[in-house]
Amino acid sequence: MKRVLVTGGLGFIGSHTAVELQVRGYQCVIADNLTNTQREVQDGIAAITGTRPEWTNVDLADPAACRAFLQSQPKFDGIIHFAAFKAVGESVQKPLDYYRNNLGSLLNLLDYVRANVDCAFIFSSSCTVYGQADELPIREHAAIKPAESPYGNTKQIGEEILRDGASAHGFRAIALRYFNPIGAHPSAKIGELPIGVPQNLVPFLTQSACGMRGTLKVFGNDYKTRDGTCIRDYIHVVDLSQAHIAAMERLMQNKAKEAVEVFNLGTGTGSSVLEVIAAFERASGKRIAFEFAPRRAGDVVAAYADTTKATEVLGWRASRSLDQCMADAWRWQLTLKSN
Ligand code: UD1
Repeated sequence: MKRVLVTGGLGFIGSHTAVELQVRGYQCVIADNLTNTQREVQDGIAAITGTRPEWTNVDLADPAACRAFLQSQPKFDGIIHFAAFKAVGESVQKPLDYYRNNLGSLLNLLDYVRANVDCAFIFSSSCTVYGQADELPIREHAAIKPAESPYGNTKQIGEEILRDGASAHGFRAIALRYFNPIGAHPSAKIGELPIGVPQNLVPFLTQSACGMRGTLKVFGNDYKTRDGTCIRDYIHVVDLSQAHIAAMERLMQNKAKEAVEVFNLGTGTGSSVLEVIAAFERASGKRIAFEFAPRRAGDVVAAYADTTKATEVLGWRASRSLDQCMADAWRWQLTLKSN
């Protein structure tokens, strides 16, 4: 049985990936220090898969703690590294914390990979590395724009660290650039657990619909888009998680053509904020009260992926629709509310 370490495995994307690993027969080991999630997520993974993943509460950015944890474990065949801080606004307030946490944990894990070059390494990157791309849909070779935030910079620098490390030390890695992950597991046993007031659109929408938040503010209606609101590529978290398995298996089967390969993970279709609201209303049967508000600093007008490379090389494509994303996000929200 192949052993895979999922860092941040109790988080939103990590927990869904843990499920996908376990249903495919991988032994999944989670490292998560509960910074942004809850221990009960382990129960949700167990309820879906019938197997309770092993979990260690460890701060991977602490070099000694990370080393001790890795030394205590039998060898890993793969590491999927999700654990990171991810709030754009907070990263502007606390840049040093972001650099220390996001880059520190990456470096500590890569020390292990450098000593175990057969260990497949998957890195969570983001479409934020493209900024406002010059051409849409966005292809992987599009220019990397100066980062808009320390958070975005940790993803850009993370990719550079991977490339330099891989060429010097002979390990292999894949960086996956996520567009906008949303939705929840269709079982409604795991999903997103935002802390405080959600900054992202879909969690705010679902919380607003069940009366936990006030009116949704739509940031900007004067963009040069079909309805004046920003366009994003929203991808179901289960589709996104499945791409991680495809990427990891490519490395395990020695099929990678470069030491570090990069893939966009999106659906290829852009949706406006108003289209997302309409899809949510269809899925939930609820009317959403919203008002237009000024543009949000740092927002790009439009971002959606060209997913040709992931389809051709990984044999993966997103299959779940925006309506399905909304139905699953809403079912999860209702479960949370009734708890
Ligand atoms: C944001 C981050 C991005 C990160 C991603 C996932 C910024 C600038 N970007 O992406 O780096 O990788 O989250 O964590 O923060 N919107 C509203 N009202 C709201 C919330 C959002 O109108 O209350 C709009 C936004 O203006 C945007 C769209 O909805 O057009 C999506 O926003 P959001 O869910 O925050 O994702 P991104 O900004 O694309």
